[in-house]
Amino acid sequence: MNGITILGAGSYTPSLAVTNEMMTEFIDTSDEWISSRTGIKSRYMSPDKANYEMAAKAAKAALENAGKTAKDIDFIIVSTCSPDFFYPNMACLVQKQIGAEGCPCIDINSACTGFINSLDIARNYLATGDYKTILVVSSERLSPQIDFNDRGSCILFGDGAGAVVVEYGENKPYYSILGAEGDMFEALFCKANYKPNFPKFDGNEIFKELCDTPEKQCYLQMDGKAVYKFAVDAMASAVDKVLNKSGLTIEDIDLVIPHQANIRIIQSALKKMKVDDDKVFINLQDHGNTSSACIPVALSELMAQGRLKRGMKVCLVGFGAGLTYGACIFEY
Ligand SMILES: CC(C)(COP(=O)(O)OP(=O)(O)OC[C@H]1O[C@@H](n2cnc3c(N)ncnc32)[C@H](O)[C@@H]1OP(=O)(O)O)[C@@H](O)C(=O)NCCC(=O)NCCS
Repeated sequence: MNGITILGAGSYTPSLAVTNEMMTEFIDTSDEWISSRTGIKSRYMSPDKANYEMAAKAAKAALENAGKTAKDIDFIIVSTCSPDFFYPNMACLVQKQIGAEGCPCIDINSACTGFINSLDIARNYLATGDYKTILVVSSERLSPQIDFNDRGSCILFGDGAGAVVVEYGENKPYYSILGAEGDMFEALFCKANYKPNFPKFDGNEIFKELCDTPEKQCYLQMDGKAVYKFAVDAMASAVDKVLNKSGLTIEDIDLVIPHQANIRIIQSALKKMKVDDDKVFINLQDHGNTSSACIPVALSELMAQGRLKRGMKVCLVGFGAGLTYGACIFEY
């Protein structure tokens, strides 16, 4: 079985830390409510950097950590659900910012599951032998999508970026389970923010559905309870399935890095998975939910703390809008 080698990781933390206390200045909430319901104490917002600039900063940090230069990169995959432009894609903007030349650049959007999907795509491209060194970046500037009048959702999310440099990993296990339940899309969505200004032909309104889109649907809309229930079941079941596929047991796993949405979701899923707390990495108290950036930011922090050791078996698991879910197991 051949998988990937993660050569290095990097991240970018935006400049503005917004604590729960600061949230009470514009919505009716409290540190006690947010902390006890979500585990989040603070999150970052990026008032001064576009998403592609955050992505490029994380990418540069990952290259440095991997001991590579932009010239070594022969494929760039960016996962984001908060791009600055409809086109070009973020990967092309990152390519320009870091000075990589000519390589293919693609964006992936499977919301918070984006990093797990992107890593899987990278792994498959590496397995063909067509590409040697792939940069995978997950970057999210969710703050412009957030309705700061909606106290049920605005407290959860933050901005951030993480990146990894990956190459083929000979005799290194890699197993994954990916899936989606598109019929649940209304549980978490944000409509593309068109500004419809269509002409009328023969007096007939066209593109009526776009013209009639309520403005609030162009902000993040969430049914928190539906997402919560889906998340607990989907994460536990994805880990169970990927363990079965790999022939490993949860005892064989050294480190679990879950999507950092809510401490209660993680704890409920962990209970179903029967995994020890000390194997699980949590940083949501400081970052909130940075969507697809959560997992590579966690990888970068774990490396910086010296907690990732070669040979460790790592399990990533996440879920997100779609609704999507995924889990993978690899050897670091
Ligand atoms: C959002 C979430 C924390 C809400 O927790 P909850 O226990 O379901 O809370 P509810 O929505 O039932 O609200 C309970 C009460 O708290 C209130 N409330 C909601 N947000 C609040 C806030 N920030 N501060 C204070 N009160 C709040 C509600 O208005 C409601 O009051 P009411 O009973 O008077 O109507 C929780 O549902 C959740 O985390 N869901 C998953 C969301 C997620 O992870 N999304 C990202 C996926 S990638």
